[in-house]
Amino acid sequence: MTSAPLLSELTDIASTAARTAGSLITKIRSEAVTSVDTKSSPTDLVTTADSQAEALIVQLILDRRPNDSILGEEGNSHQGSSGVVWHIDPIDGTTNYVYGIPAYCVSIGAAIEGQLAAGAVYDPSMDELFVATRGRGAQVNGKPVSASQKTELATALVATGFSYQPQTRHQQALRMVEVLPLVRDMRRSGSAALDLCAVACGRVDAYFEQGLNMWDLAAGALIASEAGARVENLDGSKLDGSYTLAATTGVFDALHDLLIKL
Ligand code: IPD
Ligand code: CA
Ligand code: CA
Repeated sequence: MTSAPLLSELTDIASTAARTAGSLITKIRSEAVTSVDTKSSPTDLVTTADSQAEALIVQLILDRRPNDSILGEEGNSHQGSSGVVWHIDPIDGTTNYVYGIPAYCVSIGAAIEGQLAAGAVYDPSMDELFVATRGRGAQVNGKPVSASQKTELATALVATGFSYQPQTRHQQALRMVEVLPLVRDMRRSGSAALDLCAVACGRVDAYFEQGLNMWDLAAGALIASEAGARVENLDGSKLDGSYTLAATTGVFDALHDLLIKL
């Protein structure tokens, strides 16, 4: 049993750090994005804002909980002994951030003994802070959110995302060809964390993506599931980003069965 005060503390740290890092990336962006580099492939961008924001988040977490473990996208990793692991994506949607498309966020999730426990996603362009605590629901700016009531795949709005690896993108494009004619429409926001928050508040009915990392999804997956959506690995194994499906319960099975065939 996880103690209520621990859950509250992790939620508070995630929320505070997400807002604080959100202010930092907004300030850096307003002063012009410089030193854009690439990472895993020529399409995978990283900026100094990513690394500065991650360093700030790590400092804010370790100041309050020095014995926790950290896994940050930009390379910060810290092995602690408390059983709490933080998954940090300092800017989810870096391509949007670089181009000035207002769909990027800070995503911070905490797991206790491997179970997602608290998460915060802050979208500075919309000034929206999505927060969830295991067993306590999900909120945006303090107001409860819930997934849509959709029950029919044919009229479901479905979000997806694309990997930075050309080979995976090829498979993803082939799947789009099959899914698109069977749903209301598809969306690609450019931020997996915001896609999961969109499922949480009914802005889309479902989201799927192959090839995420835990820092992309830890916070958003908890937010979506606390909002009543089902969030699972497509093959039913423990959520690890390999192939994520998040959907309101009324369309989960139909989309799952379609995707598993493709
Ligand atoms: C990416 C975004 C994008 C998703 C990619 C992610 P980044 O994260 O979440 O929507 O399709 O798979 O890698 O690189 O902007 O942090
Ligand atoms: Ca990401
Ligand atoms: Ca990122």
